[in-house]
Amino acid sequence: MTTDQAITINIIGAGQWGPNLIRNFANLPQCRVGMVCDMDEKRIQKLSAKFPDMKMTTDTQAAIADANADALAIITPVATHYQLAKQGLLAGKDLLVEKPLAQSVEECEELAALADKNNLILMVGHVFKFNPGVQYVKELLQQGTVGRVISLHAIRTNLGPVRSDANALWDLGTHDLSIFNYWLGTLPVSVTASGLAHLSPEREDTVVANYQYPDHVMATIYTSWLHPRKVREITVVGELKMVVWNDMDLNEPVRIYDKGVDRLEDYADTFGAFRLTLREGLVTIPPVGGKEPLTSECEHFVECVLKRERPLTDAQDGLAVVRALTAANQSMRSSSTSVSF
Ligand SMILES: NC(=O)c1ccc[n+]([C@@H]2O[C@H](COP(=O)([O-])OP(=O)(O)OC[C@H]3O[C@@H](n4cnc5c(N)ncnc54)[C@H](O)[C@@H]3O)[C@@H](O)[C@H]2O)c1
Repeated sequence: MTTDQAITINIIGAGQWGPNLIRNFANLPQCRVGMVCDMDEKRIQKLSAKFPDMKMTTDTQAAIADANADALAIITPVATHYQLAKQGLLAGKDLLVEKPLAQSVEECEELAALADKNNLILMVGHVFKFNPGVQYVKELLQQGTVGRVISLHAIRTNLGPVRSDANALWDLGTHDLSIFNYWLGTLPVSVTASGLAHLSPEREDTVVANYQYPDHVMATIYTSWLHPRKVREITVVGELKMVVWNDMDLNEPVRIYDKGVDRLEDYADTFGAFRLTLREGLVTIPPVGGKEPLTSECEHFVECVLKRERPLTDAQDGLAVVRALTAANQSMRSSSTSVSF
């Protein structure tokens, strides 16, 4: 396949999120949507009205096996990811699988190995790695503007959607873990987590997870789908600067605070004594441009398929996040004890 060719992609799962990928893939010049599949007949009827020229089916196996398709996008609930992804890889298709990649470390490892063995692209929908605000903060961290990172604090809340196959951390905190790993360029080593299963005894609708990264970086995540406000915000506390990324602020998503605590030698006092002085400087609001993150994610997938390149959000990226989510569940099931991984 050469780079001036187009790929055909079949989309499996067209509930709340799927139509966003249909729209994006359909608009890309190097991509054609072969067919859209959803097992729910009513969904297919609704989508046929929205996308009248697109081929639709309720037959998942036919969409996977379709000889005309180069790739599949799997946008179904997480409980189905492993089976559908495995079937897709065995059918020789490149895959974009929504987050989280699968429900266990073992499932992710198997999918990653299968993709590698068959030279297939396996990308995970960690869409925030394609978010211009998140990328801007990554640049600040790389340039040293923020200094050594001391802590990260993420809040991701809303009223719903309530999932029946994942708790709030697996659904929402997946994004924050992928962002933390990307920003820090390293992986967490332990976690303590606690959760509240108020709406259903089977899964937590509110989870607080406290991850430790190398070099004593503390990274907390507060997730809830039982909350009055939609919040998507991460605070970075660095030795030189503090940064707040607020995804709900479309115009000014990044604020850089020249705030901190300086440790001054206090020569007026006894030798070796020091004073802590608060520094409260200016707040900078940089211009952050860029396009819709999902458009960039879809473009990246198509490019990786065409050029046979490993995606920025590859199976190892998906595996690292699922490992951290699994450890948080273990901590919650053992009275919030610290789980190393
Ligand atoms: N990246 C993001 O920001 C983001 C946002 C929302 C959802 N998601 C992810 O997208 C996925 C889907 O979420 P959603 O909110 O659209 O869920 P949803 O329940 O609204 O839709 C899932 C759809 O998949 C269909 N489906 C289930 N099993 C199927 C099968 N075997 N074959 C064909 N169709 C099948 C269902 O009928 C349903 O229409 C999840 O993994 C979720 O985590 C990602």
